[in-house]
Amino acid sequence: MLELLVFFFTSISLVLFLLTKLQPATMSNPELVLEKSSIEEIYPLASADELKLQHARYANFINHFRELYNEEPTVAVRGPGRVNLIGEHIDYSNFSVLPMAVDRDMIMAVSFGDAAASSDSETISVRLANVSESEFPSRTYTLPKDPKKFVEIDPKVSDWGNYFKCGVVVAQEFLINNREEYNIAEISAMRPMNVLVTGNVPTGSGLSSSAAFVVCATLSVLLGYGFKPTRKLLTQLSIKCEQHVGVNSGGMDQAASIYGVVDHALFVTFKPTLTATPFSFSSKVPADSKEEPFSFVIANSLVVSNKHETAPTNYNLRVVEVTLAALLLAKHLANKAGKTFADPADLLPADGNLQAGTLRNVLELVYPDQTFGTDADKDFVNSIEQLKTLETLAETVLGESEDTPEGHTTETVAKLLGISPEELVKRYMTTYPVRYNYLALRKRAVHVYSEAARVFEFLNALNRPTASSSLTETLGDIINRSHASAVSLFENSHPTVDRLCAIACANGAAGARITGAGWGGATVQLVSASKAAGLVAALKEDYYRKEFPGVSDAVIEDSLILSKPGNGTTILIDDFFSRV
Ligand code: ATP
Ligand code: GLA
Ligand code: MG
Repeated sequence: MLELLVFFFTSISLVLFLLTKLQPATMSNPELVLEKSSIEEIYPLASADELKLQHARYANFINHFRELYNEEPTVAVRGPGRVNLIGEHIDYSNFSVLPMAVDRDMIMAVSFGDAAASSDSETISVRLANVSESEFPSRTYTLPKDPKKFVEIDPKVSDWGNYFKCGVVVAQEFLINNREEYNIAEISAMRPMNVLVTGNVPTGSGLSSSAAFVVCATLSVLLGYGFKPTRKLLTQLSIKCEQHVGVNSGGMDQAASIYGVVDHALFVTFKPTLTATPFSFSSKVPADSKEEPFSFVIANSLVVSNKHETAPTNYNLRVVEVTLAALLLAKHLANKAGKTFADPADLLPADGNLQAGTLRNVLELVYPDQTFGTDADKDFVNSIEQLKTLETLAETVLGESEDTPEGHTTETVAKLLGISPEELVKRYMTTYPVRYNYLALRKRAVHVYSEAARVFEFLNALNRPTASSSLTETLGDIINRSHASAVSLFENSHPTVDRLCAIACANGAAGARITGAGWGGATVQLVSASKAAGLVAALKEDYYRKEFPGVSDAVIEDSLILSKPGNGTTILIDDFFSRV
């Protein structure tokens, strides 16, 4: 699917809510997942034409549900995709990121039946259908009736149905394990489900269609058993979903999808606790500003990268590499301090996606400083300094291996950690198997520390634009440095995506970078408002038409979307479908 998302922010007068202590955008109770009773409330910035299309989409969806299942849904929800402005592949090292929810989303409706009505005494059935039946054919599977037993998910199989099953598993686990704390009624048997979904987040394209899906699945199941979660709880639960599917991903996508606020981006922290603070790109240019408004143009490269299928050589391998880099750095620090550790498991806290420690933990070994990354560290000056020191440490320590420049071998890493190569594989590469020739530890660690610093630099530039330098150019430079790091250090870009970014920069973009997991997918470019039309025209002619000869005008036009940051995950309430 050809997609081009264009976000226009009409101002350079940027107010960072976190730092200025202004009230976050209006919401009745920001703790709870949003509830909306009409399409207009979900998409308040949509034009009349866009609203008309949404009405048709929701009407088609509910009619499809009624025709298919001959009943009304018990619950209905929608969850958006997201775009990440800056801070790539650092969430699973517990560094903060700057994403925002987009107006592309998934709608899910579920009717819950009566467990007793199931003819089989051991199982209940789940019917799963998609409005795009040809792309995502219907699935029927059974679920143990016993709430203490879980549906099996084969992480080796890439099947869209797994993205629903993993939502069932995490919601079910929560409901049966937290009854007392949350006052949840006992579940005597699992209930049969009829499910319909439709989504317009392009899949495998860096805009997190998968998070939109798993957030909707987790929320629907919780609601079906009468439990309404807070945003924080829903985020914490749904973060675990894709790990069941075989992708050892971080928490950025679910946080962005759940906490999204119209016309706001989000400053998401994972440590010391999960927070998502909205900040606004204000609509008023200061009267004395000489700088023109700017926009973010999001363009899909059309190079599809399915994260599940490529996980052993791409995403999951990166998680292993940053973890091993952290362990080697911790070991180096221990040696220097004359401390001995019999087992690498004792070097760092059981933190991060492999429960073996993170690059953030290493930073905290060097700087046990509780203000890291918080607004208590004014303008993040100390945090940036600390990250730069760690970057240099990684550059030196991890660059000393005899295996460089390609990277470390399994044997070298095992030897440095004082365990056997078999033990290394067993501990860090078995739950999520990986394939590699070398482990590029230096490059990965240097990317993570420098990218984490770029997030703070980006926030500083937004919060304190200086009269002497152009904000657009400053942000553009940060974005370009992020992309360069993705290309040469984290190696999660793609030559075709690099061409797109180069075309963008040659045609008015102040900065262009790959966004999301990468290895294909979407790019985000920053451009002054007056150059946006030229940029879009150049992308059409010099990128899409040349890279994909024969692509039709209609396809290109259809894939151009103007959108602003949108609302987060929403429960559809009050007879919602009677008004579509
Ligand atoms: P990224 O993770 O890079 O941001 P992404 O989330 O779009 O991009 P993946 O993580 O690979 O990409 O997830 C894509 C998978 O999610 C699809 O292959 C499919 O299994 C599932 N999926 C997403 N949207 C839908 C949908 N509307 N209908 C059915 N399955 C979907
Ligand atoms: C995917 C993952 C996220 C994050 C990004 C890269 O979208 O799901 O957790 O790691 O890649 O920043
Ligand atoms: Mg995804």
